[in-house]
Amino acid sequence: MPVTAIIGGQWGDEGKGKIVDLLSENVDVVARFSGGTNAGHTVVNSQGEFKLHLIPAGIFRPQANCIIGNGVVINPKVLLGEIDALKERGVGVDRLSISDRAHIIMPYHILLDELEETARGSSAIGTTKQGIGPAYMDKSARRGIRLGELIDRDLFGKRLKGFLEFKNRVITRVFGAEPLSFDEIFEEYCGYADRLGPFAGETSSLINDALDQNKFVLLEGAQGTMLDIDFGTYPYVTSSPPTAWGACLGTGLSPKRIDNILGVFKAYTTRVGGGPFPTELTDQLGEEIRNRGKEYGTTTGRPRRCGWFDGVAARFAARLNGFTGMVITKFDILDTFPQIKICTGYELDGKVLGTMPVNTDILETCTPVYEELPGWQTDTSAIQSYDALPQPARQYIKRIEEIVGCPVDVTSIGANRDQSIIINPV
Ligand code: GDP
Ligand code: IMO
Ligand code: MG
Repeated sequence: MPVTAIIGGQWGDEGKGKIVDLLSENVDVVARFSGGTNAGHTVVNSQGEFKLHLIPAGIFRPQANCIIGNGVVINPKVLLGEIDALKERGVGVDRLSISDRAHIIMPYHILLDELEETARGSSAIGTTKQGIGPAYMDKSARRGIRLGELIDRDLFGKRLKGFLEFKNRVITRVFGAEPLSFDEIFEEYCGYADRLGPFAGETSSLINDALDQNKFVLLEGAQGTMLDIDFGTYPYVTSSPPTAWGACLGTGLSPKRIDNILGVFKAYTTRVGGGPFPTELTDQLGEEIRNRGKEYGTTTGRPRRCGWFDGVAARFAARLNGFTGMVITKFDILDTFPQIKICTGYELDGKVLGTMPVNTDILETCTPVYEELPGWQTDTSAIQSYDALPQPARQYIKRIEEIVGCPVDVTSIGANRDQSIIINPV
């Protein structure tokens, strides 16, 4: 597996952090390629439990060089806090490199995320308010500040002056809020620049050089395919591509070089924030999944909306990304249910749609068509092999494979690195 991309197959929080930590044992480079501190990746291993927002989950493997790619938007304060917290807990960060092309989240991005969400009223996206959308907007508008500019004090000052003047006009005249101070931001961010400078570099060369030497590379996705800016449930999406093509875009890697694309899915579905969610369970059953799965946001603490596995969305995600295999996480959470449902179609006006409708208002009126399978009602959390899984559990995996059209390579039966069943070696 010279290059494997780990991609969220649903609406995020599928357990990508756990899987990257698991699969990075013999990997030389682990690179994050999209999103920012909207991501919260949980890792539980012999060193403890960690919640990462920007640093790749390969950081616990002593041989792995970790890269924050050009496609990531960086909140320097959070990143430095994460570096310090890891060091305090004995996790070295000397092998971390950050792309000098990565864009920086500025205080006005965070403020505008908040102001824009408030202005949206009842149609708010439910963003993480981390400034993600406004930062990617500025990147596309060619008004962003990249790490390479932040660490050049004169250039940074010049660019910040021009951009802040414009942003303050928007903040005061459009939203009627207080302007931000140039001096305060400049001083604060120059401090961050001094500390981040040593990590900055041209990271696409690091990855391509590693591949030229036949080394193993893992690309760590954030968010999930249904939050993709183009193919997700627009406008209830994030502002970057969390998909296989995002992995190329956000690292500087040719699509030709990616060998395996692993889609990570929960055995059910969750979503945090607004937007359509066809298989959502708003009843006691949904509450039970939330409680058993501890489904509360890693970044914001918000309760996650929960529902059955959505085979239509999963198949759509698998085809778009070209998944070569799937990972099914949180399998253990379904251990107690006597019956388990899988959505195989969306019904609209008496017709069953086989794929995702483009407009969210249509998706909102669709009724899921379910297939019901028997539950296994057995504790799977200590099971070591696929063959040792109860028969109904294997039947559930097989049915997911058929519906999604992709083999399941790994099943996760607990948060810990060791609670993983490798079905096909990745
Ligand atoms: P990510 O954003 O995709 O990395 O996922 P999160 O870390 O936000 O959310 C996944 C949550 O499920 C975390 O709390 C993980 O520790 C936990 N988790 C991951 N895999 C499993 C599993 O197989 N079983 C259980 N019970 N928990 C898991
Ligand atoms: P990980 O990497 C789950 C959701 C937000 C909101 C929408 C837009 O942990 O899987 P944004 O702040 O990105 O503008 O919010 O996207 N969202 C996530 N949901 N997991 C994530 O990341 C998410 N990152 C963004 O809740 O609905
Ligand atoms: Mg998460």
